[in-house]
Amino acid sequence: MDIIVVGGGGREHTIIKKLRENDSIQTIYALPGNGGIAQDATCVNIAATDLDGVVKFAQEKNIGFAVVAPDDPLVLGLADRLRAIGIPCFGPSAAAAAIEGSKVFSKNLMRKYGIPTAEYNVFSDSAEALKYLKTCAYPIVIKADGLALGKGVLICEDHKAAQDAIASIMEEKIFGESGSNVVIEEFLTGPEVSVLAFTDGNVVKPMVSSMDHKRALDGDQGLNTGGMGTIAPNPYYTAEIAERCMKEIFLPTINAMNAEGRTFKGCLYFGLMLTPNGPKVIEYNCRFGDPEAQVVLPLLKTDLFTVMQAVENETLADLDVEFADECACCVMVVSGGYPEKYEKGKPITIEPMDGARYFHSGTKLTEDGTLVNNGGRVIGAVGMDKTLKGAIANAYKFARAINFEGAYMRSDIGERALKAGEE
Ligand code: AMP
Ligand code: GLY
Repeated sequence: MDIIVVGGGGREHTIIKKLRENDSIQTIYALPGNGGIAQDATCVNIAATDLDGVVKFAQEKNIGFAVVAPDDPLVLGLADRLRAIGIPCFGPSAAAAAIEGSKVFSKNLMRKYGIPTAEYNVFSDSAEALKYLKTCAYPIVIKADGLALGKGVLICEDHKAAQDAIASIMEEKIFGESGSNVVIEEFLTGPEVSVLAFTDGNVVKPMVSSMDHKRALDGDQGLNTGGMGTIAPNPYYTAEIAERCMKEIFLPTINAMNAEGRTFKGCLYFGLMLTPNGPKVIEYNCRFGDPEAQVVLPLLKTDLFTVMQAVENETLADLDVEFADECACCVMVVSGGYPEKYEKGKPITIEPMDGARYFHSGTKLTEDGTLVNNGGRVIGAVGMDKTLKGAIANAYKFARAINFEGAYMRSDIGERALKAGEE
């Protein structure tokens, strides 16, 4: 069977490498893919958000299965369009993807069904929001309603910062129309855990937990990024907490989506904070996280394509989804200056290393076949080991083998996780 994978980042590269393990798949087309993906799949220059282009291509090539990996085409309804022409798909409908596409929707869902999350209020009028800010305790968190490339969350330390945030989001529209409505919510504290889960709407099978490192600089300083590195499993996520999350968060969420007529099928990402008052939902994503996928999927022992088909066919209950009893660490090598201005087109060399796994995010092959950087996050280097410490050491060894002008990485990915239990 020939399949398509929609998207072109490190997450998609990881998914594609994993799907390669299944012999029933012949050609994998990546739309649009990137310079690294080109070594593992056939890249086709169709943007992930070009829904008409993707549908036309899938029809022409008689595609047997589609994986829609990024949030925006899912929110725009690509999975619905593909299913409508008879192409089975891994990825939720637009109705279900609203769990990520609209923070107002997801917060109201959690309130309605009693799923633990930060207290909040929703505003569509900036004058009302500003009035409310006078009554708040600080810090406070302000979130644009819609997708904002992962940047729509502002943590405001004081009243003045919060006023400025409302002006930027609701009046200057720095996040575009996604800032027409805002959620103002309580600031929570505690270790963060990402749990990705397969669900077919009937059962939910959580994957191994992970921890992202969102800030650009060591010690969680600097600007928010798409993610500078990850580790898995997350040592803060104990068996006891996992059991509690299943009962208080995962199953109630699946049931809530069914009750709303928005059955979720695909990978549901739970961004959790382990607060002193128990685990709470910080955010939902309607897809694999990036770079969470880079550490979680290499640990998956069950064939990924078999799992994806079981999700689509709603037979996930019959399948054991197993993970290796090992640890993984991903260190993101990024372009100097990211997440602000950076230069593209710098040639990349990688010294060969045994056991290295490289997942490309922002790379491109030039016409003469040179690999160059083409985005902020460039390549994720993944190390694995029986211990977290060993996995981190391996990931750094592999990351340091990547060279290009301006290359930068955090030097403390996994350090907080190593200290779990000491706090
Ligand atoms: P998001 O883009 O929704 O993943 O949010 C980015 C980051 O902001 C999260 O990973 C958290 O670290 C932080 N954050 C979001 N909501 C809250 C909250 N209510 N309290 C504290 N931190 C938060
Ligand atoms: N790493 C966070 C995300 O994928 O949204």
